[in-house]
Amino acid sequence: MADTAAAVAAALRIPITSRPLDEYCALFGLTRAELAAVPGPVLDCPGGAAGLTAEARELGCHVIAADPVYAAPPSAVAAQALAGRDVMAGAIRTAPHLYPAPRHLPYERYLRSWDRARRLFTADSAAHPHDYIAAALPRLPFADHTFALTLSAYLLLAHPETFTPARQLAGLLELARVTAPGGEVRIYPLHDGAGRRCPHLDDLRRALGERRISSDIQAFPRPGDGRTRRVLVLTHAFTTRTGKGRTRDSTGR
Ligand SMILES: C[S@@+](CC[C@H](N)C(=O)[O-])C[C@H]1O[C@@H](n2cnc3c(N)ncnc32)[C@H](O)[C@@H]1O
Repeated sequence: MADTAAAVAAALRIPITSRPLDEYCALFGLTRAELAAVPGPVLDCPGGAAGLTAEARELGCHVIAADPVYAAPPSAVAAQALAGRDVMAGAIRTAPHLYPAPRHLPYERYLRSWDRARRLFTADSAAHPHDYIAAALPRLPFADHTFALTLSAYLLLAHPETFTPARQLAGLLELARVTAPGGEVRIYPLHDGAGRRCPHLDDLRRALGERRISSDIQAFPRPGDGRTRRVLVLTHAFTTRTGKGRTRDSTGR
């Protein structure tokens, strides 16, 4: 109980955001068709107030969201996510160089997509509470190898002020533990909120490799502006494979 309260308190220092499914697809180099074809449940950790679980349901894809804030009712999470949207609006205004240019990403339209996702989250998490699990990395209440695909957006490497290197490693290992052999864990971004790339990423990858977790950094074209997104992809070592249309980082192990 004390653990849960501490995790919720720590989580509240990180803004809750509400990205829609299409933004998840763009972040992780996925298409809707690929998501629909995933041969098992998908984990979204942290889920925040994202629309992924609700929207994927429409595709016939079962996404379980995990986040410590789900200890609070959906309306309270949505209220925090509205504040998170305002944080994002402010960040875009004060540090526009960290975001795609407005001609590629009209900001008002972008923020409206978060509003829509937040509304979908609120309705879906009230209707399907069993798909929204209150849980905090680095310890998740799922059996080994539960998920065919695990997505983790804007947490472990994005918030080094909260996640020390040791906690980042523990979090990555936990995401790998709950992911099935043959499945993948995809993590984005590899940089913090100021755009600084995780300085010890190679050390993390080496430590993962010692525990038989393979890692690639895969580059996906970012829709709209032609730039590239880099995603950390983890697999169980004995099932490493390279998918179509991706490039492998030379240090893939
Ligand atoms: C920036 S939001 C990202 C939400 C969602 N993935 C998205 O992109 O819209 C970060 C989320 O991480 C959650 N969080 C904070 N600490 C966590 C932990 N230890 N384990 C899992 N989630 C955590 C916060 O509650 C918050 O909802």
